[in-house]
Amino acid sequence: MKITYYGQSCFQVNIGGYKILFDPFITYNPLAQGIDVNSIEADYILISHAHQDHMADAEAIARNTGATIVAIWEIHAYYEKMGLKTHPMNIGGKWPFEFGTVILTPANHSSSFSDGTYGGLATGFIIENDEHTFYFAGDTALFSDMKSIGDAHKPAFAFLPVGDNFTMGVKEAMQAAKLLGTKKVIGMHFDTFPYIQINHEESLLLASFNEINLSLPKVGEVIEL
Ligand code: NI
Ligand code: MN
Repeated sequence: MKITYYGQSCFQVNIGGYKILFDPFITYNPLAQGIDVNSIEADYILISHAHQDHMADAEAIARNTGATIVAIWEIHAYYEKMGLKTHPMNIGGKWPFEFGTVILTPANHSSSFSDGTYGGLATGFIIENDEHTFYFAGDTALFSDMKSIGDAHKPAFAFLPVGDNFTMGVKEAMQAAKLLGTKKVIGMHFDTFPYIQINHEESLLLASFNEINLSLPKVGEVIEL
């Protein structure tokens, strides 16, 4: 499985022959100025919540690519009004897409659009097909139901926020990985802004102490899993 990091919490995951884009935020990301938004391909855009650093480029990319936006009801309604293709979901629900099944999971965070529109609850995603199962946590605090998510789906790896201040930090992400029953974490939501800058060396040391394989990708980096 090929994963491309576009900064903050934006990843493109190639799975089942489809390109799934999570939480597009490129144009206003000071670390992603080398990325051309118009070059990003997507069949589906999954949006975890309505904060700008998770959706700022969703409309442009959806228009460029014809991708379907998959998100909680309130986010679907926001984009449907713009005439974009959407698939509404809500927490606890699952749907079999062509690339695999998406399960909308809870996240412990807030969610509103920058114009004040209510974004519904913040969410995460489990993606599973015959070959791969992984968890994209979105923005969230550590919460104990990650244990049930882990027990039910056994994700091979997890995208977890590690930047602290607005979400859990690296220390909590290690605990989250244990609850989820995975040894492989791809860090996200770090370094983009001063509030979420992290010490990489200390973070990687903490991960190795916890026997967790932590990736802290650079913007533009491709990860093969
Ligand atoms: Ni957020
Ligand atoms: Mn965020």
